[in-house]
Amino acid sequence: MKLTVLNGPNLNLLGIREPDIYGKTDYKTLCEELIAYGKEKGVEIETYQSNHEGDLVDKIQSLYGESDGVVINPAAFTHTSVAMLDALKAVGIPAVEVHISDPDTREEFRKINYVRLACFKTIKGHGVKGYFEAVDALIDHLTT
Ligand code: DQA
Repeated sequence: MKLTVLNGPNLNLLGIREPDIYGKTDYKTLCEELIAYGKEKGVEIETYQSNHEGDLVDKIQSLYGESDGVVINPAAFTHTSVAMLDALKAVGIPAVEVHISDPDTREEFRKINYVRLACFKTIKGHGVKGYFEAVDALIDHLTT
């Protein structure tokens, strides 16, 4: 089984960026820990981050026939990107949405969410632990 963990804009600055909201784990460490977690579970995990909406759409499209499941934190594009929603729907790969914070309890504009409509589960407000929970949810979904 191959899973892909996609991160949107500014998540490459994890550890530096607003640590009171997003925590102190840096992006590189998160990726290393996710890959190691996948190995423990017998799952190949690929990680990808981009600050550009079109790159993320291209990446989602490229997963067709290549990846069994997607963990996605679209970051700010959560609240704006019909293109990412459409790309996820187009490839039809099971997806779990992750947010480190809980956008629904923050500013009003963060309550708008397009990408959620293409995800079978949302994990929010659990810090970076949410990514590992999302991997578990995908493995459950794909094996039961
Ligand atoms: C985020 C929440 C978004 O509102 C924000 O734009 C992000 C990160 C989160 O992980 O909590 O960049 O997706």
